[in-house]
Amino acid sequence: MKRSNSFMWWFGVILQLCFMLFSSCSEGSTSIRRALLKNDLTPASSSPAVKLDENHNQVVIDNGIVQVTLSKPEGYVLAISYNGIDNVLEAKNKDHNRGYLDVVWGNDDGVFQKIEGTKFSVIEKTEDQVEVSFLRQWTHSMDGSVPIKIDMRYIMRRGNSGYYSYAIFERPEGFPAAKVFQIRLVYKLRQDKFHYMAISRQRQRVMPTAEDRINGQELAYPEAVLLTTAKNPRIRGEVDDKYQYSAENKENCVHGWISFDTEPHAGFWVIAPSNEFRNGGPPKQDLTSHVGPTSLAMFVSTHYAGTSVSINFEKGETYKKVFGPVFVYLNSASRNNNIDTLWSDAVRQFNEEVRSWPYDFPRSPDFILPNQRGTVNGRLQVRDWFKKGWGNFNAKFAYVGLALPGENGSWQRESKGYQFWTQADENGYFEIKSVIPGDYNLYAWVPGFIGDYRYNTTITIKRGGVIKLGSLVYRPPRNGPTIWEIGVPDRSAAELYVPDPDPKLVNRLYQNDARNKFRQYGLWERYTDLYPEKDLVYNVGVDKHDKNWFFAHVARRTGKQTYQPTTWQIKFELDEETSSGNYTFQVALASANEARLQVWFNDGRDVDPHYETARMGKDNAIARHGIHGLYSLISIEVASDRFKKGNNIIYLKQSEASDSFQGVLYDYLRLERPPTGGRM
Ligand SMILES: *[C@@H]1O[C@H](CO)[C@@H](O)[C@H](O)[C@H]1NC(C)=O
Ligand SMILES: *[C@@H]1O[C@H](CO)[C@@H](O)[C@H](O)[C@H]1NC(C)=O
Ligand SMILES: *[C@@H]1O[C@H](CO)[C@@H](O)[C@H](O)[C@H]1NC(C)=O
Repeated sequence: MKRSNSFMWWFGVILQLCFMLFSSCSEGSTSIRRALLKNDLTPASSSPAVKLDENHNQVVIDNGIVQVTLSKPEGYVLAISYNGIDNVLEAKNKDHNRGYLDVVWGNDDGVFQKIEGTKFSVIEKTEDQVEVSFLRQWTHSMDGSVPIKIDMRYIMRRGNSGYYSYAIFERPEGFPAAKVFQIRLVYKLRQDKFHYMAISRQRQRVMPTAEDRINGQELAYPEAVLLTTAKNPRIRGEVDDKYQYSAENKENCVHGWISFDTEPHAGFWVIAPSNEFRNGGPPKQDLTSHVGPTSLAMFVSTHYAGTSVSINFEKGETYKKVFGPVFVYLNSASRNNNIDTLWSDAVRQFNEEVRSWPYDFPRSPDFILPNQRGTVNGRLQVRDWFKKGWGNFNAKFAYVGLALPGENGSWQRESKGYQFWTQADENGYFEIKSVIPGDYNLYAWVPGFIGDYRYNTTITIKRGGVIKLGSLVYRPPRNGPTIWEIGVPDRSAAELYVPDPDPKLVNRLYQNDARNKFRQYGLWERYTDLYPEKDLVYNVGVDKHDKNWFFAHVARRTGKQTYQPTTWQIKFELDEETSSGNYTFQVALASANEARLQVWFNDGRDVDPHYETARMGKDNAIARHGIHGLYSLISIEVASDRFKKGNNIIYLKQSEASDSFQGVLYDYLRLERPPTGGRM
């Protein structure tokens, strides 16, 4: 308890710093990943040689800095010794519950399965590097076990304060059908030592314990707990939920825990040097670290996306993909300045790993080495004739990526293949390096414009090849001139009105952090508090999207388990007689969860809706405090006689109301006039 004061003091300092400092691992990380030159991590020959010891049921790899003990032949990580701490993992946990790879797979309800190797082998053993393999074969007698051959690899290099791990998933011919929902590495750290968690420069704090959660009060779902009896009085009364610590792939770079109960103080970090093996593209959100203390390396999941992103293998479908390597990094600092030193050093190490990506030292032939990869470059521009006539905009900071061939935007549901993304510069120039040979489509989206770009032909990347695409032009969907718009087309609801949480249900980390306010628990309930009887009405030209447009279109609570659909109104004036042709109502959604939108134009709502979606989405972003899930764009054509000169109303009803998590997050709405001459 004595030290918790100083934790909190440092915690305050960090919070203040966050307003001043650029987070080295936030928006910029894709560009960091792109910009830095390759610079191999050459083992320092002054460090001791790497040693490998085996006995009948354990393997110990030791480079004089870190020692890792693995069970043989299963491949469970039993112990990580570092700097006088004989095990940073929780030794009270059983062997299979400290460090492991697991897969969620099955039919509609996935089952968790920890992957247990059946055959151990030494791949490489030199003074500079040891690589070992724990292979789990699959045979037809293993019905009920995930039908994938999985090779778990561990690499320790001389002079490194940590080790690498990766996994090769393979389906040779003849395997049965299977659906995979999740693939991840899990680390469970010592509960008595690791109390401080850091997932970005801004998002760091003293965390509750697992016991605090057990003794707390479960909220709307088991992951969310009110810490009614937390031992640390500064944490008591807060909400804890692991989903409050999610991050987008592009920002999920380095995260972990700090121990103040060791001398010197120590940090444990999971570093992902690349997103190429993760599913769903750069904005896909996933878990990082959370109470346990637990740290995850997420490779594939359905979080913030739903089962439409699961990997479906057909009977007999062959497959091979390498997940990782990721780096487990350990560092230490003496008592002074420890948090800042440990965190900054972890970020420095992340940058170093990125500089040496793709690694040239993994020994599996399935890991494609740097000199066998290809490059694509070009320039993307945007032609939005309403905004700039014939002229083009530079696709400033556009996200441009390669993923398996599919429709516009299909990358956000794509989980089978590799994805390679970059962010264009302010003139729209982009270069995607280190691409694994294969067939891809080139996709992009441009902040400030709706829709999804897709280059019209398949791109085949060859070993060492460079493909120059030259100038590309994206014509975002538009039928006519803008009459009005609400929000900013950026695939997120963050700029809309995000309410304060219920003061009794707060995570104090986000209390003075406007950017992360959406991560507070229970914001969906605030709609009923703000609009207890009458629904939201938005007056175009008067109201502001950040003050008057509630970020989530959810149902209204009417009782303990009862809800009522809500109908929002957009009121606007047309100052001239309507012209012939169709108006277009563009509705860009940042998320949908078991929702149905019904739309009326002016006519009373006792008639059938003029437009209605099917029940759509299951990305669960509302309950998981995500400010977006999967993006979609609905373009609704409206016959001009539905509108009139003077006052008009668009009614938007979210008609599904059986629980509080059904609804949509709007990204952006726009009404367009019928097209006139001169359209391009
Ligand atoms: C799909 O991509 C094409 C080519 O980039 C583009 O013209 C079209 O507007 C896109 N459609 C949507 C709905 O984003
Ligand atoms: C793809 O686009 C290019 C450039 O706009 C055009 O020349 C080509 O004909 C298109 N190819 C197909 C298959 O549509
Ligand atoms: C107007 O929209 C309707 C419904 O989508 C469509 O059938 C019709 O062809 C459109 N008319 C014009 C002039 O675009």
